[in-house]
Amino acid sequence: MRVLGIETSCDETSASVLEGTGDDVTLESLVILSQDVHRIFGGVVPEIASRAHLTAIVPVVERALADAGVGEIDAVTVTNAPGLVGALLVGVSYAKSFAFARGIPVLGVHHMEGHLFATALEHPDAVPPFTALLVSGGHTMLLDVEAWGRYRLLGRTRDDAAGEAFDKVAKLVGLPYPGGPHLERLAATSDGGSYRFARPMLRRDQTPGDPDFYDVSFSGLKTAVLNATKAAADLDADRAAIAHAFQDSLIETLVEKTLRAAREYRRDRVVLGGGVACNKTLAAAMRARFESRGVRVFAPAPRFATDNAAMIARAGLFHLERGERSTLDLNAFASQPIPGLVAA
Ligand code: KG4
Ligand code: ZN
Repeated sequence: MRVLGIETSCDETSASVLEGTGDDVTLESLVILSQDVHRIFGGVVPEIASRAHLTAIVPVVERALADAGVGEIDAVTVTNAPGLVGALLVGVSYAKSFAFARGIPVLGVHHMEGHLFATALEHPDAVPPFTALLVSGGHTMLLDVEAWGRYRLLGRTRDDAAGEAFDKVAKLVGLPYPGGPHLERLAATSDGGSYRFARPMLRRDQTPGDPDFYDVSFSGLKTAVLNATKAAADLDADRAAIAHAFQDSLIETLVEKTLRAAREYRRDRVVLGGGVACNKTLAAAMRARFESRGVRVFAPAPRFATDNAAMIARAGLFHLERGERSTLDLNAFASQPIPGLVAA
């Protein structure tokens, strides 16, 4: 089956063509157009995002089709939840018209399920069963993936997403938006010095029944960083150390919570996803903690970690092969649970 994927849930307009069956897939094209305009505002402005998708969607899809070369498209898959509704609607409306005009099926895909499939696009072994940590600007989720389509949501953030915490702390130490990659670079220039922040919601006495055994929370850490920046006698001299200590605390929390999940469900594979999975320090910390235990860690390349249509086509292909189809009533939703969730 040859599938077109479309992703417009936030500030990337993306299209991709993928061909294959089961876990044997070939990526024929992937176009990602990132909307730079939001930098001016220090965050994504929904109305501007929708308009930018509207301008970009036709050329982005045409480019993806041209890159993939001649051949029929058998189905269109599109992110229809969760995300910015106006932004999602652009992709969904376009996908429906594309499918209707060609008389082919259309299928709505959950954005976070797409992130779960992303790493498998380049690592053939990043397939279930595995423990998944999805860390992006909007979401932080720890899942046990027993099989494609069978997901157990173990933990999530109680407040800020990991990427959001990176971006806010980056702003506190004077870095541009989106701050995650800048903060990682700044943190690498220091060893943290005398700064150390508590590990949020991480205590040894927690047991699997505790509601906070897997959950994370980053707002307290963010406040601790804010207080440290205010208390610093010379912030310019200390900003790299503060950045380092913040990243240390956040990463150790994520690594330990992921380790709990992998142990509890006896998984020998950990798959990272979402924009924060671009963070090399996070991937290295995961590998250091897991590989001596015989657990392999898979981190996606940046173009598959951040929002992209290839992961949507890949997750869509799985559902299409199970005979699932959407109708032309397909709508966009700001928030929706991942399909296939089983009780924790
Ligand atoms: O998955 P994504 O592209 O978009 C959302 O769905 O949110 O993730 C974007 C997030 C931003 O918060 C960005 O700062 C963060 O990923 N990010 C990073 C790094 N690269 C991107 N965070 C930490 N370290 C990085 N190297
Ligand atoms: Zn995303």
